[in-house]
Parts: sequence; structure tokens; C-alpha cells
Amino acid sequence: MKRLEHIGIAVKNLKESNALYAKLLGKPHYKIEEVASEFVKTSFFQIGESKIELLEATAPESAIAKFIERKGEGMHHVAFEVEDIHAEMERLEKEGFRLLNEKPKRGADNKLVCFIHPKSANGVLVELCQSIKE
Ligand code: CO
Repeated sequence: MKRLEHIGIAVKNLKESNALYAKLLGKPHYKIEEVASEFVKTSFFQIGESKIELLEATAPESAIAKFIERKGEGMHHVAFEVEDIHAEMERLEKEGFRLLNEKPKRGADNKLVCFIHPKSANGVLVELCQSIKE
């Protein structure tokens, strides 16, 4: 894995949290993006080499809505950038990690993503992401 790409934080109200995190980090978010297939609206803050991703549910069936219902707002996932997501998925599967999707899927921020079940990573939902080169 190349680097810590971002930390995902589940929030109830993206607009309010954008203002809060702008105060906390001392700079505004640089983009908002909706991922319709995942029922989420996201915003991104750049912090050096890494980012903070805020996630708000856009529908009750969203994983973020369910997460907030169970645990409340807070840290949702940790994302690592990888060079070759297919190779990394194969490697992790062989190592015994439980992948949550069989194939990489399209995520926010022009990325292919795959998630690893928190049960196989000490309670942390891990995202692998690879930038899509256009
Ligand atoms: Co993410």
C-alpha cells in the first residue's frame, strides 16, 4: 500500500459538518461529490498528502445511514491508496482478509474502491483505493 489516502467520517448534516471541519482544519473543503450508487454525498478536505472525507447519507438504505443509526456520527473508514487494486485484493484474500466486494467498484474522487470487513481488521472498515487514470 502506498499511503494513507483518507479517513472517512460519517456525519448527519454535510453542510454543518463542512463548516465545523473548516474551522477545525483551518481550511475549507475543496469539493463535494455525490455517489448516487452508494446513496452518499461526500466532501473532501486536503491535509498534506492525505484527505478527510465527510459522508452524509442521501437515503435510508445508505450504509452511512445504517452506521449512524447503530453507532452515531464518527470515524467510518480508513482508506489506503494502492497501485493495483486487483493485485492487492488477491493478496489480501490469500492472507485471509474478508473483502466486502468481489470486484472493485467506482467510488468518490475518481477512484476504484474495495472494502475489507471490519471483523478481519480489528474492527476497522478498510478501503482500498486506486486512482482511475483518464
Ligand atoms: Co472513502
